[in-house]
Amino acid sequence: MATVKFKEASPYIQLQSSPPAEDYLYNKYLEHIALKSASRDDPIVKLALFGAGRAGTIHLTTILSNVRVKLVYIVDDIDSNWESMRKYWRLEDVVFLNSKQSDKVFQDPNIDAVIVASPTFTHENIVIKALQARKAVFCEKPIAENRSDTAKCYEIAKKVGKPLFCAFNRRFDPSYSEVRDRVRKGEVGHVHMIKTVSRDSPLPSIEYLKISGGIFHDCLVHDIDIITWTLGEYPDKVSVLADANIPEIKAIGDFDTVAVTLHFPSGTLGMIDLSRNSTFGYDQRLEVFGPRGMVRADNEHPIPGVRWQYGLRGTTTAPIWYSFASRFMNGYRREFEHFIDVVHGKVESLVRSKETLAVSKVATACEEAARTGKSVDLNWIPGELPDQ
Ligand SMILES: NC(=O)c1ccc[n+]([C@@H]2O[C@H](COP(=O)([O-])OP(=O)(O)OC[C@H]3O[C@@H](n4cnc5c(N)ncnc54)[C@H](O)[C@@H]3O)[C@@H](O)[C@H]2O)c1
Repeated sequence: MATVKFKEASPYIQLQSSPPAEDYLYNKYLEHIALKSASRDDPIVKLALFGAGRAGTIHLTTILSNVRVKLVYIVDDIDSNWESMRKYWRLEDVVFLNSKQSDKVFQDPNIDAVIVASPTFTHENIVIKALQARKAVFCEKPIAENRSDTAKCYEIAKKVGKPLFCAFNRRFDPSYSEVRDRVRKGEVGHVHMIKTVSRDSPLPSIEYLKISGGIFHDCLVHDIDIITWTLGEYPDKVSVLADANIPEIKAIGDFDTVAVTLHFPSGTLGMIDLSRNSTFGYDQRLEVFGPRGMVRADNEHPIPGVRWQYGLRGTTTAPIWYSFASRFMNGYRREFEHFIDVVHGKVESLVRSKETLAVSKVATACEEAARTGKSVDLNWIPGELPDQ
């Protein structure tokens, strides 16, 4: 009886609350119910996908579920997979080509954009050919194997007036971008410490690692990007310790465990804890700390239940997401939608050329610090860094 006084009027009489902006999936659903979205008047963007491996399959599922685009070509060198892919994905109209036949894509005037998800060492050549053929380009990170080749790609993009988008997918993850928004609103004050934990799962094959470009340009770039994008600042000094606990990784001259510390001109410190092999799932966290508090993006669980165990043995939670394809699924979809908006000239690319080039420079400095055992100072020339 004590709570009767809190009884409210019928929810049918009271004003119903609208869904919160945070429920981006429900808000999208409302657009579908209302059959109303500004993007539905845009022309369909015709695409070619280069590479149908781990990353390519993520983009393929996104493309096939997106009504704003039409997939016309898949370029991949494992031609023994073509028929199974056609059957599995019902790709009756899609033309399959191997990389030697890829000029067909560049010569096809109907193709508006190219999605590059082939191995890193192939990116530069595909990106340049696609841009020269006046196609917009979405390219998996990194755009090229080093900073100067990346800069060359951006110069061509500028010359031909077509977008070159570098797929730093973590920026589009709802919880990571929320952390950035809160930091930029000043919720923690001037940042004293920013940290990421990035532990890969499953352990990639040695065949992949041999052509990955190494842990600094293959993995660490994601952390450098999310940290510098959150802070709007670039480090002036890095110190790195790295080792390979897995003999096969040591044998190819790469590392599987890396600890990075970054110093920023404003006094902020950064820490990155990186591993190639997390056996309990894809461990991805971001934490920002300052005098007014802390904001954090924690690991997410596919099934967020908690289990209480018999015999007072405590509780267990469900496992975290196993790998990038599941953990960042929403981020990949939002990233792709953003790219299509960029192609239509509706928005500026959220990932800017100066940012990608700066990330590459920091990754190279980190590799140098790890290999020499000495801290590396970073000097930035005027105009090299993006405006904030
Ligand atoms: N953003 C992310 O979360 C993420 C995740 C994984 C990989 N990646 C990036 O995606 C790229 C591919 O990595 P992956 O793990 O998918 O590799 P993968 O080996 O699984 O797949 C690569 C595919 O490209 C095909 N291929 C090889 N040469 C080609 C060419 N010249 N043209 C077209 N296709 C070609 C191969 O046959 C293979 O099917 C890498 O640059 C990597 O850095 C990004």
